[in-house]
Amino acid sequence: MAEPEHKPLEEFAPSAEWAAPREWFVPDVAWTVEDGLIDRHADLPTWNAAVARDDAIVTQIDDGATQLTASNVRRTPNRSSSCSAPSLVFDFLRLLEPYPGDRVLEVGTGTGWTAALLSAYLGAQQVTSIEVDEQIAAQAEEHLDRAGFAPGLLVGDGRCVKWMRCDACNGTGKQP
Ligand SMILES: C[S@@+](CC[C@H](N)C(=O)[O-])C[C@H]1O[C@@H](n2cnc3c(N)ncnc32)[C@H](O)[C@@H]1O
Repeated sequence: MAEPEHKPLEEFAPSAEWAAPREWFVPDVAWTVEDGLIDRHADLPTWNAAVARDDAIVTQIDDGATQLTASNVRRTPNRSSSCSAPSLVFDFLRLLEPYPGDRVLEVGTGTGWTAALLSAYLGAQQVTSIEVDEQIAAQAEEHLDRAGFAPGLLVGDGRCVKWMRCDACNGTGKQP
């Protein structure tokens, strides 16, 4: 049987971003270094500009125990979940260099954006993502569902996944 054709990520990135635009995955209220609190309903242009910028977007602090407000984010060093900066996500994917047919495990689903990009590239059936925080995992599932992707989603500590066979592993979660 012929090997499936490998498409370099440079070629794939524009179509994946079209299939899974970042704005489908960023929550309505989040926080960035440049803008502080961004609220899609209160100020759409600022929210859009933040989503388009190559910067991480904080989506949760203190594992959800503290409400995400501008002053709370500044007060805590524990920015527990975010939508990673696009250049970082694509650097990770480039390093991962998945081939068609590969099974990929992502540790740290976050907003679900990376899982969506991987699903657009490999097919959702090839992708499993695990998220330790239940609330973040539920939001990611909603985002992915709305975007039309159904990768395998697990809730738990990615460090405990010892049983899964996969060809590549992409992780932005905390290391042991
Ligand atoms: C930087 S965010 C992931 C961003 C994600 N790639 C995206 O596209 O939105 C890191 C996520 O890893 C999760 N996390 C941290 N440690 C983890 C672990 N040991 N197992 C699973 N998830 C973990 C956090 O809750 C957080 O949601």
